[in-house]
Amino acid sequence: MKIFIDSAEVSEIREARSMGMVDGVTTNPSLVAKTGRPFREVIEEIVTIVDGPISAEVVALDADGMIREARLVHQIHQNIVCKIPMTVEGMKATAVLEKEGIRCNVTLVFSALQGLLAAKAGASFVSPFVGRLDDIGQDGMNLIEELVTIYHNYDFTTEIIVASIRHPMHVVESMLMGAHIATIPFKVIKQMANHPLTDKGIAAFLADWEKAGGSLT
Ligand code: E4P
Repeated sequence: MKIFIDSAEVSEIREARSMGMVDGVTTNPSLVAKTGRPFREVIEEIVTIVDGPISAEVVALDADGMIREARLVHQIHQNIVCKIPMTVEGMKATAVLEKEGIRCNVTLVFSALQGLLAAKAGASFVSPFVGRLDDIGQDGMNLIEELVTIYHNYDFTTEIIVASIRHPMHVVESMLMGAHIATIPFKVIKQMANHPLTDKGIAAFLADWEKAGGSLT
C-alpha cells in the first residue's frame, strides 16, 4: 500500500518525506489556500520534494476549460496528476487527458457508480472521500469496500486513493480492504506513530538506564 500526504504545506511534506513515508502528494484548492501562497509556486516546490504522483486540481467546470488547465499544470512536471471533479464534464476531460498521457485523479467521489464512471473514463486514480461520508452519517469505508470489489471483479487498473481520512483507523481499514493508496493529513500520519505503551516503555527504559548510571561509552 502506498501512502500519500494530503497537504500543500511544504514544511509538513518535507517532514513526512524525512520519515520515509511519502509516495506521493494530494492537494486541493482549500489546502493550497491555507498556505497563503500562489498555487503555481506551491506545486513547483512540492515536485522538488517528492518524486511521485503530485495531484493538483483544476477549477474550470467545463471539459474544455479543465483540459486547458490540466495541460498547463502538467507542464510544470511529469509527476503532476490532474485532479478532476466527478462530473459529466469531468469524465469528458478525463477521457481526453488520459489518452494524451496526462494522468487524472477523479476527485469528490461519493458512490460506487461514480467510481465506476471514473474507471470507465480511464482515470489513473480515483479519490473516494470517506470522512465527508462519515460526516453525513454514512459509512465512508463501505464505499472503499465496494470500489475494491468492483475494480477487482472487472480488472480495472484505476488506483483507489482513500481520501478525506480523519483518523488512523481509516488507514487500518483501507489496508485491510486492499485499497491501493491512502492520502493522509500530516496530523494523522503523526498519530499513526503514537502508542501509549511505546511512551511508557521509553520512560521505563530511560529510568532504568539512569539507575544503572548508564553511559554509551
Ligand atoms: C484529497 O484528495 C482530498 O482533497 C482531501 O482528502 C479532502 O479531505 P477533507 O474532507 O478533510 O477536506
